[in-house]
Amino acid sequence: MKITDTEILQAFIRTCEDGWLQGWHERNGGNLTYLLKAEEAEALKPFFREACGEWVQMGVQAENLRGTYFIATGSGKYFRNVPLAPEDNLCILEINDAGDSWRIVWGLEKGGRPTSEFPSHFLNHSVRKEVTKGENRVIYHAHPVNIVAMTYILPLTARDFTRALWKSETECPVVFPQGVGVAPWMVPGGAEIAHVTSGLMKTYDAAVWAHHGLFVSGPDLDTAFGLMHTIEKAAEIYMLVQSAGGGRTGQTIPDSGIRDIARDFGVTINEAFLNAE
Ligand code: 13P
Ligand code: ZN
Repeated sequence: MKITDTEILQAFIRTCEDGWLQGWHERNGGNLTYLLKAEEAEALKPFFREACGEWVQMGVQAENLRGTYFIATGSGKYFRNVPLAPEDNLCILEINDAGDSWRIVWGLEKGGRPTSEFPSHFLNHSVRKEVTKGENRVIYHAHPVNIVAMTYILPLTARDFTRALWKSETECPVVFPQGVGVAPWMVPGGAEIAHVTSGLMKTYDAAVWAHHGLFVSGPDLDTAFGLMHTIEKAAEIYMLVQSAGGGRTGQTIPDSGIRDIARDFGVTINEAFLNAE
């Protein structure tokens, strides 16, 4: 048996392929990380390199991720190539005891580094781990067309985006009742955008990056992928309505309807984004 045959690697590879098939990953666009459970990391250790890579400082630190292991996509690697050669496009990272550096223990066999967005993923993992009491495992970043297009139209606020998305597809308030955060345009790939995004992730399980893409989180790969898919589909409906209607909307879901959905589906809706009754 190869490491790439294990259930968790298979699920990770499938998620990369599904994201590619959705059209969310042009060239090397997007990145995916999974925080391994202690028992999963233990089971994978026999496959790790004998000589691990050098420790590399991240420029960010997290107490609650000291000594953990992540599966991550490689920087500059193409999601479309992951199923063909996972060992060249993915890696497993070990985090040091200080919680501020990684080293490669498996993968990227032809060289390379983990995704340039690893600092953002890492701080998002830290925040979501805390907020979800250890449930969160996945951070996923993609470049879906319609959510990016929305960032050229709407004011860049959580309220504007959340309301537009909730009202674009009836299931949305159930899937992301807390809403989505929005980060202004920033240079990607460093500690600054990592801090801004993880600040949003204290409240939201998804954060839009203006003129760039979307970050989502979740307890497993299916849930995170499903959140990305749901938000992007609502964004597609929003953009179709805007385009077809020339900016005019005939009718939409009322705020009272969103409250009714939340009540019937047993979710706590973020009232801050609804107008007073
Ligand atoms: P990486 O290839 O380093 O993962 O970067 C892709 C990307 O989407 C940057 O935001
Ligand atoms: Zn990106």
